Amino acid sequence: MSIVAVMNYKGGVGKTTLTANLGGEVAKRGHRVLLIDLDPQANLTFSFYSLPQWHEGLDQRTIKQWYEGDIPGREVPLSELIVTPEQANDAISDNGGRLDLISSHLGLIDIDLHLASKLGGTTLQESKRRYLTLHGCLRRALQDKSFDDYDLVLIDCAPNFGLVTKTAIVASDHVLVPAKADYLSTLGISYLAGSCDKLVEEYNDYVGHGPNDGTSKINPRFLGIVFTMVKIYAARPIGTQQNYIEEVRANAGLPVLSTVMRDSPRHYGDAGARGIPAMLTAPMSDDVATEFRHLAEEIMQQISLEKGGQR
Ligand SMILES: Nc1ncnc2c1ncn2[C@@H]1O[C@H](COP(=O)(O)OP(=O)(O)OP(=O)(O)O)[C@@H](O)[C@H]1O
Ligand SMILES: [Mg+2]
Repeated sequence: MSIVAVMNYKGGVGKTTLTANLGGEVAKRGHRVLLIDLDPQANLTFSFYSLPQWHEGLDQRTIKQWYEGDIPGREVPLSELIVTPEQANDAISDNGGRLDLISSHLGLIDIDLHLASKLGGTTLQESKRRYLTLHGCLRRALQDKSFDDYDLVLIDCAPNFGLVTKTAIVASDHVLVPAKADYLSTLGISYLAGSCDKLVEEYNDYVGHGPNDGTSKINPRFLGIVFTMVKIYAARPIGTQQNYIEEVRANAGLPVLSTVMRDSPRHYGDAGARGIPAMLTAPMSDDVATEFRHLAEEIMQQISLEKGGQR
């Protein structure tokens, strides 16, 4: 199983749209995929369920309930929150593939503060123990055997670097960074990489010098930056966007994926309004879908997931 955090603390760069469509594309190829919505905006959740559907009980089974309480997961095991969106799965061919979801809740917005209040302690050892317990909570939960069945877990992060997002980074083997090819979106990318490196260093330092409770060190790898909403003209990104892409490639210190996600309001613009990611319904011959398949293949190759059609 590969666990990939999709993150960028810049908002509106296409994180959720990429997560939903990548999940759909990988599931269509016969893999079992779990999507986790860690954003209080719950856009990923509402890409699969309408608000009335969500109020039919789903609102009582969200990641917010899991993070609540003294220690995340004490009230309810993570696996009990898994749901299988029906419409999207109906669009996946019958080859063993499945797309599951752990949904979010607007109330998740208060959880960062709640978790932060659990940090600290009367001794240094106690502080380190609590730090590792909280930051490593999602990592431990996903190691449970009930998740063994999944080939891929995609975590859609909120546009911030709060504690909940940090639990996703700690849980992940890979980090994928969607970004728009414009000035403001590319500004923060190297800072983002630095923040992740700092978190990993701090966590591993605490593992090394903290309580000897079997917690292991982490080593999430940057899969790279995926440029999204790229305007293509004559088979290439338009000039201004190409310049930003080149600049990031040269200076950000992170890999840049060679495939981009094209700007296509027709495919991605009404993200979620139909309850099915666009890539699950687009015809095979569709240009934008073909490009997206190449992007999915590039990512699958990097995380060593078979491209194939059958499990
Ligand atoms: N490739 C694309 N082409 C056209 N529109 C897109 C594309 N990708 C995303 N969009 C649209 O851009 C908007 C923002 O996308 P999305 O919600 O995926 O971004 P996000 O990074 O998850 O945002 P947030 O930071 O708020 O979570 C949405 O309205 C979506 O439909
Ligand atoms: Mg989002």
